[in-house]
Amino acid sequence: MSLGRVTIQRFEDGEIYARFEESVRGVDTFVIQPTCPPVNENLVELLVMVDALRRASAGRITAVMPYYGYARQDKKHAPREPITGRLVADLLESAGVHRILALDLDADQIEGFFNIPVDHLRALPLFAAYLQEKTIGPAVIVAPDDGAVKVAYRLSERLRMPLAVVFQRRPAPDLKQTVQVVGEVEDRIPILIDRIVSTGGTIASALDALIQHGARPEAYVCATHAVLVGPVARTLAREDVREFAFTNSIPIAPEALTDKIRILSAAPLLARAIRNIHLNESVSTLFT
Ligand code: R5P
Repeated sequence: MSLGRVTIQRFEDGEIYARFEESVRGVDTFVIQPTCPPVNENLVELLVMVDALRRASAGRITAVMPYYGYARQDKKHAPREPITGRLVADLLESAGVHRILALDLDADQIEGFFNIPVDHLRALPLFAAYLQEKTIGPAVIVAPDDGAVKVAYRLSERLRMPLAVVFQRRPAPDLKQTVQVVGEVEDRIPILIDRIVSTGGTIASALDALIQHGARPEAYVCATHAVLVGPVARTLAREDVREFAFTNSIPIAPEALTDKIRILSAAPLLARAIRNIHLNESVSTLFT
């Protein structure tokens, strides 16, 4: 299908304007927008587009969010903090979204922030297929922090490989420190899997701990969302990593690409889900 025609402009003061250039009356619409950096711009652009669709009498409006920004703010860690992941859900519903299609939300409970249906796809099969094509040798699947244990466990089951977990604490929003490594990593090739690589701090500190515990300096790093901000170039340049595999849930600037980065396309998965939603067919077959 061709993309719907829409004009999006910025006013001089930064406000966003959107207008659909064709009738959407009664149409089943899918607005594809990862709310990646610049997060607030992309989020408001999505809200504005949904508002325009609702006021133009669109049929069902599905927000397709390959990356859901603010997902990491899914609970309070200290008094007087917001739960911004929930606030974003409320904003989307208020704007008029009828349904969400997401890929690897940072925390599964975000599905429960919505009172509308959420179809939550997983990139795990893409990473499993990517790794299965390689001859890696004795390896261990590693969760680089406790938030990644479930996805790492699923990958280890699928590839029949042992599992290890690096426990870390977060003394500041973008800082991680390793507390403990659990599992046998000595003389094994670590395959780290996480949902997000942002500043690269979590991966870097997990790699340091793994190497200290005798893991081989030939790691693979898989992460669904390549946010890639701040000092991430230092992590992407590490010699103890053979390859980084990311999905294209977030567009990666060509200058950020290195010869170690592999991009796995999530487009066929999202396309199948969009098709099935449109035809009212099962989407759960795509979940695993
Ligand atoms: C979410 O998937 C996890 O908390 C990640 O480990 C974390 O968000 C990655 O962030 P960074 O690359 O800045 O350490």
